[in-house]
Amino acid sequence: MCGIVGYVGPRDAVPIILEGLHRLEYRGYDSAGLAVLTRNGQVEIRREVGKLSNLDGLIAAEPLTGSPGIGHTRWATHGKPTRYNAHPHTDPERDVVIVHNGIVENFLELREELAAEGIRFASDTDTEVIAHLIDRYLHAGNDLVTAVRHALQRLEGASAVVVMSRHMPDTLIAARLGNAGGVVIGLGEGENFVASDIPAILPYTRRMIFLENRQAAVVEPERVRCFHLDTGVPFQPTVHTIPWDPLAAAKGEYKHFMQKEIFEQPQAITDTLRGRINFTTGEVTLEGLHLSPAEARALTRIHAVACGTSYYAALVGKYLLERIARVPVEVDYGSEFRYRDPILAETDVVLAISQSGETVDTLAALEEARRKQVRTWAIVNVVGSQAARVSDGVIYMQAGPEIGVASTKAFTASVVDEYLLALYIAQQRGLLTRQDALTHARALALLPKLVGDTLAAVDSITRELATKYYRARNFLYLGRGIHYPIALEGALKLKEISYIHAEGYPAGEMKHGPIALIDEDMPVVALVPQDHVYDKMVSQVEQVKARDGRVIAIANVGDELIAQKADDVIYIPKAPPLLQPVLSVIPCQLFAYYVAVRLGNDVDQPRNLAKSVTVE
Ligand code: M6R
Repeated sequence: MCGIVGYVGPRDAVPIILEGLHRLEYRGYDSAGLAVLTRNGQVEIRREVGKLSNLDGLIAAEPLTGSPGIGHTRWATHGKPTRYNAHPHTDPERDVVIVHNGIVENFLELREELAAEGIRFASDTDTEVIAHLIDRYLHAGNDLVTAVRHALQRLEGASAVVVMSRHMPDTLIAARLGNAGGVVIGLGEGENFVASDIPAILPYTRRMIFLENRQAAVVEPERVRCFHLDTGVPFQPTVHTIPWDPLAAAKGEYKHFMQKEIFEQPQAITDTLRGRINFTTGEVTLEGLHLSPAEARALTRIHAVACGTSYYAALVGKYLLERIARVPVEVDYGSEFRYRDPILAETDVVLAISQSGETVDTLAALEEARRKQVRTWAIVNVVGSQAARVSDGVIYMQAGPEIGVASTKAFTASVVDEYLLALYIAQQRGLLTRQDALTHARALALLPKLVGDTLAAVDSITRELATKYYRARNFLYLGRGIHYPIALEGALKLKEISYIHAEGYPAGEMKHGPIALIDEDMPVVALVPQDHVYDKMVSQVEQVKARDGRVIAIANVGDELIAQKADDVIYIPKAPPLLQPVLSVIPCQLFAYYVAVRLGNDVDQPRNLAKSVTVE
């Protein structure tokens, strides 16, 4: 959840690390710090509580320069967000300095062991034990690499660590143990970079190495030496070229990343469709999947696993895959899947959906599938992420970097990818006539334009309605069928950035309980597209109105009836029923965005949240 950046090379590391941390601040933002090796070979550290701007202020007041350097933004797990708990952490002589992402599960035991040897701790963190352990192995006569290996072998739990030492200048050692987020090594010319996420170092290089579980690297300006942490045996890593444009990771003309990413959806959908569907024949090609017609016919069940917004995308996917490909789909939270000992057949597939590809619960679900020897697929945005690497097949979202903590374009891109997957399986199973395939292809071809039209239609009305409703303390979101997950996603968007309590509910269930909550203080957002359950949704709107509730309806252009029933209507274009959710989610995203802006909240960095959740 924390962000890590490291630099080794001839330049001053401080501005590079600060800039990288700013690009990673979405990962965690309760404190931040950096350390460099100064010209006279000493470790200097600056740490500050709160947003990164506080660290900027501290460094302006107390400047430092040097190289190599390491930096960190923290999302607290052990110990409150204080200056002394902020990373980097070191030993009393500052021999070793480290930044860390993850949790040392046996830290109490290690802390007691070190305390018994007279070591005094300067923080409450689990991380600090790693610095002391490395230092202890150094003092026992080991070289730094061996000391790091010995120390890391003592850790239980998932961790990503970057180590710097005055005993080995011009060097960083990076290591990954388990699924505590990525460790990416960026290859420059006469300089190299380390980070937890690609965007931190994207302005400097697109050539990157991703460390796998229990791999480590000695990173020097002119070379990177990778080795297996447990054996020390070196290996030749694969170098990936990242297709993202560095400009895509900048805010540009927008006030917030979330706003930018909402408005990027027509492009993100165009990009995710690119090269995958032939618009004149309707044929779908998903190169990363390798599913033969025989395997497609034998497919018995898809178990979709995901968290948060990606989980809601999976719920939409259930409708798409069952309707188009006629494959039964079960949807699980990543955090629940492995704990219920799921029944998986040899002919099933576990499908992970994850923007980051690093969400630890989703990765654990993939591991469970692999343990049970079931085929795994992943729909993932971040190229080279762990979910992409460990799955048997991958569909990349191709949505470009998503920086805003509230996920938006990754949701719509995932839904479109699930649609493509459904078509692909149906095609391989021989379920689609040529005419069906063409109808679907045409609908998908029109989708980016419809998304653009929706953005144009709803931007100002959602802003106005945000001003009208932002004082409400509770919201109910109602939807039916394929729009029930949109109600859930709309409620999640509102709560995570506006801190207003919101619940998503299947509209038909309202009368079984939540209707008791309805009064004039609890606005209801009703998703009422003109589909096969339209009449039922209208009747639910009437039930809310009969109890003095206030209704904001999201409805199709031209629906005059709903205007007579609801207090406010947000009109969106009409799309084929299975693609309508891609449009209906957009006013939900924008409404949440404008409410949060109206409340003066930090939209891109909502309190307590982090972009990728790499701890359980
Ligand atoms: O990277 P992932 O898609 O695996 O992330 C899953 C969730 O953590 C994520 O969707 C989270 O719920 C977002 N903050 C939602 O906006």
